[in-house]
Amino acid sequence: MVMAAPLGGKGAPHRPVLLTETMQFLAPARGGVFVDCTVGLGGHTEAILESSTEARVIGIDLDEEALDYVSNRLARFGNRFRAVQSNFREINSIVEESGEKQIQGVLADLGVSSLQIDSATRGFSFRFDAPLDMRMNPTGGTETAADLLLQESETEIARILFEYGEERRSRRIAKWIVESRERGEPIRTTKALADLVQRAVGYSKPRDIHPATRTFQALRIAVNRELAELDQFVGAAIDLLQPDGRFVAISFHSLEDRIIKQELRRLSGYCQCPPRVPVCSCGARRAVELLTRRPVVPDDTQIAQNPRARSAKLRACRRLSLP
Ligand SMILES: C[S@@+](CC[C@H](N)C(=O)[O-])C[C@H]1O[C@@H](n2cnc3c(N)ncnc32)[C@H](O)[C@@H]1O
Repeated sequence: MVMAAPLGGKGAPHRPVLLTETMQFLAPARGGVFVDCTVGLGGHTEAILESSTEARVIGIDLDEEALDYVSNRLARFGNRFRAVQSNFREINSIVEESGEKQIQGVLADLGVSSLQIDSATRGFSFRFDAPLDMRMNPTGGTETAADLLLQESETEIARILFEYGEERRSRRIAKWIVESRERGEPIRTTKALADLVQRAVGYSKPRDIHPATRTFQALRIAVNRELAELDQFVGAAIDLLQPDGRFVAISFHSLEDRIIKQELRRLSGYCQCPPRVPVCSCGARRAVELLTRRPVVPDDTQIAQNPRARSAKLRACRRLSLP
């Protein structure tokens, strides 16, 4: 397969998003066990392992290719790094099976890695013509983006494009997709989809993003069910932390950030029930102290070095002592 993954473009080494800030909040120099729920290329994990010889990391990813790459990259840390192919929503059982009892920090750097987006074969990007797959775990038996466009109704495709891609022309694009499959020409490749979207929405100014950008993002989120049960994951991760343990989440999508923000507020004791509800039913409890009142975002230098970081938002909290 063709990939430019270890590089962050223009020959620069891959630099993880908000690395300095992540390390400040996770404080790995104290040592202990950390769970990197989205180990990807292993940039954040490498920094954790380098910060203390007493630090160990369980690195989770859905993507076998990422785990192969990262196991090689981090081999020098020996058994201080353990790779697990799984969905991070299984964090409870992963930690239980690892036999670790005291978790010092949990990191989730959500979304896709450059390994995936720069792959010429996995269908995440319209820069390469490839089967329209987009699964983070292509061996997982779940439906591909092409399956989704073949099976879902026009209304559902439009909803996905509008909600996950904020695509204003979602209904028009969905109509074109369904008309195409009804003509016996289902969308099976990245190029076919990018061309269809371009034809459906017409002219775009040369300096705008590619007209298919939002459609590709929306499909990726839907195929990988990226927003599903994210709130429960945040709660489960925080419940695993020992007192003063840290949780750090980096998101790239406003819906993702909203879920994390609300869940962290709920777990810091702020009721998240709708206004005028007589009795709180959201389960607000004081389990954490927020370390970020507002999300931390990359500065201009970081965005210049890594343009994909521009929409990143980091939120962090600290586990309080158990009552
Ligand atoms: C933004 S990248 C992480 C990059 C990483 N922090 C680094 O420094 O290289 C996100 C990674 O999370 C993985 N991922 C996304 N959702 C996941 C899930 N639900 N469970 C496990 N891994 C997931 C993706 O396969 C991808 O490799």
